[in-house]
Amino acid sequence: MPTLAVYPGSFDPITNGHVDIITRGARLFDRIIVAIASNAEKSPLFTMEERIEIARAVFHDAPNVEVEAFDGLLVDYVQRRHAQVIVRGLRAVSDFEYEFQMALMNRRLNGSVETIFMMPAEQYSYISSRLIKEVFSLGGRVHGLVPDMVEERLRQKVSGRK
Ligand code: PNS
Repeated sequence: MPTLAVYPGSFDPITNGHVDIITRGARLFDRIIVAIASNAEKSPLFTMEERIEIARAVFHDAPNVEVEAFDGLLVDYVQRRHAQVIVRGLRAVSDFEYEFQMALMNRRLNGSVETIFMMPAEQYSYISSRLIKEVFSLGGRVHGLVPDMVEERLRQKVSGRK
């Protein structure tokens, strides 16, 4: 049976750390679904449509990477898609506690879904969507930390606000 993995998150916006994990996951699993949570961020910078469009553009030439929105419980979505695995990235020890809680809660909710943690390349181990938004909005450089399309869209958002 082909192994289908779900990589959930807010992806507001997708970073090169996310891209690194998805690329690794696409090598490991038959198919990986980038599942963008519609209820995770209260006031996201990017709309769901923009987040989907960007992730699809970044992975347009990766035939086993799919991008989709989901709402409700993650384990219910995983079951609906007949996936077996949840992929999460672990950057540092500080991620561990939250990830541990989520993985065990998800296991309690559905014991047949396995969570697998993957580490991004070390040059991405300190970046997060939150930090990217903060640094960019204060005039800092994020080149090389996000896909070029994200950098461009961030620029448009900031100039649209002025
Ligand atoms: O990487 P993020 O942005 O912190 O992602 C968090 C996400 C979307 C994976 C988490 O909030 C989630 O799974 N949301 C869906 C609702 C759900 O199932 N919550 C219970 C998790 S134990």
